[in-house]
Parts: sequence; C-alpha cells; structure tokens
Amino acid sequence: MKDDFWYKNAVFYEVAVRAFKDSNGDGRGDLRGIAEKIDYLQILGVDCVWIMPIYPSPLKDDGYDVADYYGVDRAYGSLDDLKGLIEAAHSHGIRIIMDLVLNHTSDEHPWFQSARSNRSAPYRDYYVWSDTDQKYKDARIVFVDTESSNWTWDEQAGQYYWHRFYSSQPDLNFDNPKVQDEMLNVARFWLDIGIDGFRVDAAPYLFEREGTICENLPETHAYLKRLRSFIHEHYPGRILLCEANQWPEDVRPYFGDGDEFHMAFHFPLMPRIFMALRRGEVGPIRWVMQQTPPIPPDCQWCTFLRNHDELTLEMVTEEEREWMWKEYAPDLRMRLNLGIRRRLAPLLDNDRRRIELAKSLLFTLPGAPIIYYGDEIGMGDNLDLFDRNGVRTPMQWDSSPNAGFTTESPYTELVKGDLAFRNVNVTAQLRDPHSLFHTIQKMIALRRRHAAFGGSSMEWVEIGNPTVAAFVRKNGDDVVLVLSNLSHDVQSVVVPPQYREDCLDLLSSCVVSLGAELELRPYSYLWLQLPNGE
Ligand code: NOJ
Repeated sequence: MKDDFWYKNAVFYEVAVRAFKDSNGDGRGDLRGIAEKIDYLQILGVDCVWIMPIYPSPLKDDGYDVADYYGVDRAYGSLDDLKGLIEAAHSHGIRIIMDLVLNHTSDEHPWFQSARSNRSAPYRDYYVWSDTDQKYKDARIVFVDTESSNWTWDEQAGQYYWHRFYSSQPDLNFDNPKVQDEMLNVARFWLDIGIDGFRVDAAPYLFEREGTICENLPETHAYLKRLRSFIHEHYPGRILLCEANQWPEDVRPYFGDGDEFHMAFHFPLMPRIFMALRRGEVGPIRWVMQQTPPIPPDCQWCTFLRNHDELTLEMVTEEEREWMWKEYAPDLRMRLNLGIRRRLAPLLDNDRRRIELAKSLLFTLPGAPIIYYGDEIGMGDNLDLFDRNGVRTPMQWDSSPNAGFTTESPYTELVKGDLAFRNVNVTAQLRDPHSLFHTIQKMIALRRRHAAFGGSSMEWVEIGNPTVAAFVRKNGDDVVLVLSNLSHDVQSVVVPPQYREDCLDLLSSCVVSLGAELELRPYSYLWLQLPNGE
C-alpha cells in the first residue's frame, strides 16, 4: 500500500458503523462486524472505506457530537478492534478513513462541562461565548427544521454559546491556539493507530468573523493548511477529504495549491445528476461541470449520489429546489431541512435502468466515486424513522430474521415494503449474476482497469441531442466515449466523424462499429473504448 496518490482513481464506500454488521449480538453494528465483512467489500471492489464517527458520544447527532476524541464508543468496540479492522482491511488492499469532527463537540464533552461551569474555568475559552445572541447575524442556520438560532443560552454559563448545528453541539473556538493544537493531537492519535486519513466534517465553519457568513474564512484555510502540512510531513500517503457543502468556486480554495485537502466532495454535481435524469436532459450536468474549476494535479473530487444525510439541495436555486422537492419528495415526510431524506433506489422509483444509469454517470464523470452502503444492492429507506435515521437502517445481508444484520433485536426498525430485506439482500444478489450488485461490481472493475476514469480530462461531444450525455474521458492512451440516454424514449445521436470506428463496448466486451448514427435504448449507457490515442 505504498502509492501516495492512491485516492485519485479509488472507489470509496461509506459505512454507518452502527448499521453495517453486529458481531456481538447487542443489536448494534460494530467495528468487528465491518472486519467480518471485508471479503464482501473486496468482492465489490472498493479501495477505501469511510467509517462514520466511532467516538464516545451521546448520539444526539449519530456520533458527530463527540464526547471524547481519544476513544471508541463501547457500542462499536475498542481501539484494538479498530486496529484489527485496519489490519484486516489492509490485508485485503482496502484503506480505512474516519471522520475528524473539528468544528464542534458534544455538550457532554468534559471540555464543555468545564467551560460552562464558570467564566474563568480552564476550558471556557475552548468555546465561543457571548452576552448577546446578536453577533454573526449573517451566518445561516444549517439545521433549519430543528434550530432557530446559532446561539443558545446556557443557564449555568450565564452566556450564549455558538453552534452551527444542533444546540447540543457547541462550536470549538479556533481562535484559541490550544484548540488548534489539540485538534492536531487528535489527528496524530488516530494516524498513529493506522487510519488512512480523515473525512473532515463541516470544514468551512471553524472560525467566526463579524460581517461575514462565517464560512470559508481565510483563517479557516490557514488552519486547514497547517493540518495538511502536519500530515504531509509525518504521515505521507494519508488523506484529507473535505466536507464543504459549497459552490465549486468556494470549494476550490480547499485544495489550495495542492497544500490543503487532497479531496473534496462535489456537492453541486449530485443534485444535478438527479435533475438531468428526471428532466431527460443533460443541461444541468453540463452547466455544473462548466462551473467546476480545474484543481491541482494531486487533488481529486469525490463524487456521490447519496450519503448518510439528506440529499442536500443547498447548492441549487430556490426554483430548482422546489422542483426537486415536487419531483423527488412529493410526500412531505420525505423532506428534511433543505433536502430529501431518501435513498437512491426509492428516489429512482426502484427502476433498475435509472439506478444503473445514475451509477454509470457517477463512475464515469471526473472524480473518485463513493458508494453509500446498501446502495449497491438497491436498499430502501424508512420514513417512519426520525430525521436522517430513515437512511441509516441496518444493512440487508440476507433473508433471515433481522436481515442477517444481528442475531438479536436491531437498534432500529428495518426497511419495510418492496425494498425490505426479504426482497433486497446481499446473499440473493451475490447468487444472481444479473443482480444490481454484479452490475456495479463490473462497473467498478472496469473503472479500475481504465486509467481514463482517474484522470482529469473530460470533453463533451456534440451529438445533436440534449437528451443524451456524451463525453470522452482520456488519460494517456486510454480513451473512453461515454454515452447515456437520460430519457425514457429511444434516442438517436449523430456520431461525429472522428468516432466512426470500431470500438470496444466495455460493459458487454463486444466490438461495436460506430457509423454516422447510433440508437440508444431508454436509459441505456455505453462505455466505448476508442482505438488508441483517439
Ligand atoms: C455533516 C455531517 O455529514 C452531518 O451528518 C452532521 O450532522 C453535521 N456535519 C454536523 O457534524
């Protein structure tokens, strides 16, 4: 595992630890459970697993409310279990990254307990306090469905404290050099254990300044660069992946000159893949790719369709958001904050063609794709569950009681209805050569074999039909023309003269002779390898 640039053409996989596999019969998934399933992840073909927070936590935000940065919540196992998981993963050629929650702690963290006790408490200055709730008025509220202000009055402290997320998550004060150093110690601790990097939670919010939106501030970038240079110096080959739900031009600085993050999620692309699929029109994807600036050569975008949060609609216009809600969240229970709390398969009406097409786009557009656990088998969601818990239900391993997730009663209700475990599960899909799992496995294997997908080059091909996405990916001699029919009708496209050749259809392994015109079945996609150096 020596390649320092491994992330550039990697396939990532996000795991909610509590939901993946219970190894000890307490009804909750744990680190040993993931280790038990490493073979499965290897068969799927993923290169790196991102595990959601495992820190001790009161779980008011599923572990993003950290009560101790130097431990593992007993529900998930122990530090030794984490080491065991990393070892098991590495022996299968898989890396493990975890969340680094810099911006805030739980209100149950001992630092906050000390800080709130009195004004001269040693940890008082670890948090952001004020006598008024009128400061930083330009900062938006993220959890609009649950919070009405970014300030909460603390009776014991006799002051307001600042928080960008739930009021149970007070923000750390990064103006305090001790906080800055402490968080480097946290990073060091996990890197010494062997973790391959971090998904840095809520990166834009570290500092507050009056008269700004308190996001993306120069001070924040300066600190993140310090974190990067620390990693670069002491832990080469480990990565930082940025969670900044921002427009591409605001995310771009998080890559710096190749001296800040290695990777950043591409938030604005995600809803536009769904828009394009619903409208049957490539416009939204082309638009967002045009807005996407080039990034330094050692950096990479991380692209995704779904994750553990709501499908966020922050990076669209208000009009587009209303349209997305109307199309994809007709039942009001599906809406949450500025997004949609549904999984991939139900969002696409469990239509196999559209699910495959969405994945095909994910795997062929620039960036390193990440799969949300369970989406490779088309798992459903459970709208009866609170907030985002509806998309964090137990992995559906087989058709035995409790989906093979646990031998005891699971921590939560499972998915009900058509996409429940008796219909949708890993064991059945592994057995069926035509399953969604196998299609995705194939896409991953092809991606791995073709350097074109890991490069940065992408050129749109004019084929005279806006219903079809047509682009070429190229890296050295490897050139792949990708065609995707976004509509439910047969579409024909004009093949530009330079592509009228014999090419290899990568998904079927057949040779296709491209003529002047080509017909594409509804929602079909083709990955065509062009003769060398086209
Ligand atoms: C982003 C995480 O993805 C989300 O789940 C969490 O609630 C917030 N950051 C706060 O940590």
